Amino acid sequence: MLFKGLYFLAALTLSGTALAATTASATTSAPAAIDTSTGSATGNFTFKDKYPAANSVPVPKPEWVTLLNTSAIAKAPVYSNNGGAGPKQSGSADPYCDWTFTLCTRPDDIVECPKGQWGITYDDGPTQFSPKLYDYLDSVGQKATLFMIGGQVLQYPDMVLRAFKAGHEIAIHTFSHSYLTTQSTESIVGELKWTEQAIFEVTGVHPKLFRPPYGDIDDRVRDIAKQLGFIPVIWNHDTDDWMLGEDTSFQADWIDANATAWGNEAANATVGGVSLEHDLYAGTVDAAIRILPILKKSYDVKPVGVCAGLASAYKEGNVTVSASASSLAPSTPAGSTASASVVSNAGVNGAGSSSSSGPVATTSGANKQTVGLALTGLVAVAAAALF
Ligand SMILES: *[C@@H]1O[C@H](CO)[C@@H](O)[C@H](O)[C@H]1NC(C)=O
Ligand SMILES: *[C@@H]1O[C@H](CO)[C@@H](O)[C@H](O)[C@H]1NC(C)=O
Ligand SMILES: *[C@@H]1O[C@H](CO)[C@@H](O)[C@H](O)[C@H]1NC(C)=O
Ligand SMILES: *[C@@H]1O[C@H](CO)[C@@H](O)[C@H](O)[C@H]1NC(C)=O
Ligand SMILES: *[C@@H]1O[C@H](CO)[C@@H](O)[C@H](O)[C@H]1NC(C)=O
Ligand SMILES: [Zn+2]
Repeated sequence: MLFKGLYFLAALTLSGTALAATTASATTSAPAAIDTSTGSATGNFTFKDKYPAANSVPVPKPEWVTLLNTSAIAKAPVYSNNGGAGPKQSGSADPYCDWTFTLCTRPDDIVECPKGQWGITYDDGPTQFSPKLYDYLDSVGQKATLFMIGGQVLQYPDMVLRAFKAGHEIAIHTFSHSYLTTQSTESIVGELKWTEQAIFEVTGVHPKLFRPPYGDIDDRVRDIAKQLGFIPVIWNHDTDDWMLGEDTSFQADWIDANATAWGNEAANATVGGVSLEHDLYAGTVDAAIRILPILKKSYDVKPVGVCAGLASAYKEGNVTVSASASSLAPSTPAGSTASASVVSNAGVNGAGSSSSSGPVATTSGANKQTVGLALTGLVAVAAAALF
């Protein structure tokens, strides 16, 4: 397990790729986003809000911080960032349920799907490589969950909009891809809310789902996120695909072999899967395209919010979004937010709830989006009520 317990520092623009060991027992996750600060936004979308610089840990708006009840946030230590390699926990006690330390999870964490199902997720986009993945998913009619980095959303809003309209679940992967247990409470608010805000400007909806970069979550992060209405998604199957861009000794066909093994386990497994993949590099997108058919042979593959039984991946719940509005036309910043009519609002800032092993969702909001857009230009995002 050479690669287990190794974290790659990928603040590429700052210091180049570096490697450092940690004592973390959990599997590793993706590197930080590629540099977005030099790119110019694609398309003609203009954000109305004034955003922090991509790749920076953002200072939140004051009104976001006041949403918190700080006395209801676990008093876990804020870890130092260990030279950029993430938290370095010590000892054996894990009072704050730190996933990268002990793989500890809480009931509200979404880690798996029900038996026979597979939550398919792609992190760190959008990037220049995302369209190839989106094209493929469209071609096979597959909906997925896309955990997007806020800085990447700012750079590629057209891709975000395309993915949303295609019926994928748009979800949050923080603004700057930092280790959340190393961030102050205020910074965690900034990481989540600025990303939500950017996605909202493009799509007109507020995501509920977020994935902590590197799976770096503890009870403090959970409490902050929950108070802001976000539900954490981890994973139970790691492709390690991101190593393709970081480690020349990593063999791409290991990803395929692992996926084949996961398929073979399906019949006897007690639970289904949630996988970690990335639309971060050309190679990770190619791997994603290769292994989806392998997984589909053995699992009912769907967005993770769907397999977790969420009625909607968005805080708006049951909303209609007019796809024909100026919202989706380029060059109109004033109308650049898709108009979302809240039919039944579960509360945009309210805490969500989740089930990691609940009943299968019988409807897919994602599918409805696609059908609605294709046939009528109306998007029906599914049910308001959580169950
Ligand atoms: C931006 O708008 C111009 C003029 O309407 C159009 O020709 C161009 O294709 C647009 N670019 C994108 C990426 O949508
Ligand atoms: C804040 O949290 C504390 C501890 O859980 C609780 O006693 C208090 O009622 C909460 N305050 C508000 C305004 O919800
Ligand atoms: C699965 O991937 C890991 C690296 O992430 C590799 O070491 C292992 O050999 C792979 N499994 C198979 C069956 O190839
Ligand atoms: C699944 O379990 C059955 C019964 O215990 C066993 O015969 C079979 O070999 C197992 N299959 C796999 C792929 O492990
Ligand atoms: C969404 O709201 C509409 C109007 O209230 C209702 O007719 C429809 O059944 C709701 N859809 C779901 C999935 O709850
Ligand atoms: Zn990531």
